[in-house]
Amino acid sequence: MRNHGLKVLGATAFAFALLFGNAVRAGEAVESEVMLLMPVFEPEHGRALFGGKGCVVCHSVNGIGGEEGPALDYDPANGPLNLFEIAADMWDHAATMVPLQKEDLGQQITLGDKEFADLVGFLASPAEQKKFSLADVPPNMKELLEKEREEDGEKEQSSD
Ligand code: HEC
Repeated sequence: MRNHGLKVLGATAFAFALLFGNAVRAGEAVESEVMLLMPVFEPEHGRALFGGKGCVVCHSVNGIGGEEGPALDYDPANGPLNLFEIAADMWDHAATMVPLQKEDLGQQITLGDKEFADLVGFLASPAEQKKFSLADVPPNMKELLEKEREEDGEKEQSSD
């Protein structure tokens, strides 16, 4: 329990640093009265979700995954990721991503708040990303991934 509390504190301090850091950079007011709850991030669970939810069918991490969407490897050159930028990116790309998910996975991927937090934690954790392997991809998703690869292969051949 103590450990849990510390994690929450750590995440909250981090979020404040990001929020205030951005506010200061933009020259806007630093004071904020927003009632936001910061989640506890569990990147290890996020690693399982990246495979299990099927993100891996279209996105690669650590060289494993499909190529329909961009690779989602953490790039240290960009510094810490911004949680809200990730959410906004997913929203902005939803119009493309959702129909593709219905086509490839048979349905739109749904995420609970905890699942989304853990996935974001995984996207922001180079250590956890380095561990990502085919062992994190359940058989049904592996099958879809292979199907994607075959279809891409056929496309490449026919465009030759
Ligand atoms: C069926 C394919 C597919 C699946 C499954 C999928 N995505 Fe995507 N995703 C895409 C495509 C294609 C894009 C780029 C869309 C565009 O260019 O508008 C994208 C874009 C993104 C982006 C924005 C990337 C950027 O550089 O701006 C993020 C973040 C993202 N996806 C995260 C996820 C996560 C997390 C999951 C799993 C919960 C997931 N995606 C599942 C196809 C998919």
